[in-house]
Amino acid sequence: MHKTETILLSLLFLPIIILTAFTGKPQIQIIITITSIIAIIVYFFTTKIIQKCIPLIEKVGITGKDLNKLSDKPIPEAMGIVPGIAYLVFTILIQLIHPITLQEYNAVLTSICFMILLGFADDVLNLRWRVKIYLSLVATLPMVVSYSGSTHILIPEFAKKILSQIPGIPDLPTLIDIGIGYKLYMVLFTAFCTNSINILAGVNGLEVGQSVVIGFGVLAYSILKIIETPASSALTIEYHTVSILLVIPFISVCLALLKFNWYPSRVFVGDTFTYFSGMALAVIGIIGHFPEMMSLFFLPQILNFLLSLPQILGIFPCPRHRLAKYNPKDGLLYGVKEHHNLLNFWLRIFGPKNERVLTIHLMVFQFVCILLAFAIRYFYAFLLN
Ligand code: UD1
Ligand code: MG
Repeated sequence: MHKTETILLSLLFLPIIILTAFTGKPQIQIIITITSIIAIIVYFFTTKIIQKCIPLIEKVGITGKDLNKLSDKPIPEAMGIVPGIAYLVFTILIQLIHPITLQEYNAVLTSICFMILLGFADDVLNLRWRVKIYLSLVATLPMVVSYSGSTHILIPEFAKKILSQIPGIPDLPTLIDIGIGYKLYMVLFTAFCTNSINILAGVNGLEVGQSVVIGFGVLAYSILKIIETPASSALTIEYHTVSILLVIPFISVCLALLKFNWYPSRVFVGDTFTYFSGMALAVIGIIGHFPEMMSLFFLPQILNFLLSLPQILGIFPCPRHRLAKYNPKDGLLYGVKEHHNLLNFWLRIFGPKNERVLTIHLMVFQFVCILLAFAIRYFYAFLLN
């Protein structure tokens, strides 16, 4: 087994090691140990199935050209279907070892399933990107329609203090019920997550790479939350336990896909994967009750979205692909001025790069943004105390 693969898979046991060292919650420890072991099995299973699917997908011609290479060899696309389905099977069966009482659980699984289906349809039919945005809105329906949880938002103490200084504004309660507004927020948040991962793409390994880094960020956050939450706040502990149970298999299936999608890609992940990944992360944020922290984890995607806005809104023309320019003479990628996105922005600031190096750079940037998210979160908690 490759050294990096071993290290990354070992990291899946991080929660159980840390939780055993810092907390005395044996029931959670058992469930998470079982989840980590099954996740490793799922990793090898997913890897095997991807291998088997490569010739099948090639045969039906769902392939794409690697635009940053000279070779015209068709690369099997839509391989996200395998990790997507493996993930669904895992998250359905996980209820056997940890009955999840959260009422939204099955609805969010339906939303993930719906998104995988629509992503696959997109890969087969090659839809226009505006249509893709509508599809991501449609897939949120099962989750939003059946959601009957709290529609309250928390008003931070410091915001209340600032608002109370303004004459005419009455004293605000800590929790405000925003009713239907909360559901609208869920739709927009989910649509943003799915599309923002999809448009931070175009070099081998980037779509899955960013998902893995965010996955580890979520894992670290939920571990910290379980450690710092007193046993009396059982609901918060349950939210973060479920988040860990959902994110461990997410990381494991992504790692299996990354093995094949890493430079030079043997498979492309397709929109099946980017939609699945965005939807899975969004629902983990919603069901784990930390969408604001999840939004902070999406800082590179937010930056990429803001840079892309002039083209998305049609102020400047938006071509089908907004990739960097590959120069066969030196094998490097060059930033294109007319392609307004993070990829090209990065190359124009830091200079031309080899495709593999660029993916690593953007993954490190994602990691730094995760650290920044933690810094913001804990500095904010410090301000409140
Ligand atoms: C999004 C981006 C688009 C970018 C594309 C690359 C927006 C609005 N859309 O479109 O600019 O070019 O992702 O994924 O920002 N490909 C490679 N190398 C890779 C990954 C993909 O060459 O490492 C090419 C292949 O030809 C593959 C195709 O991109 O077949 C997949 O594109 P698709 O995911 O359908 O593009 P979009 O998500 O619509
Ligand atoms: Mg895509």
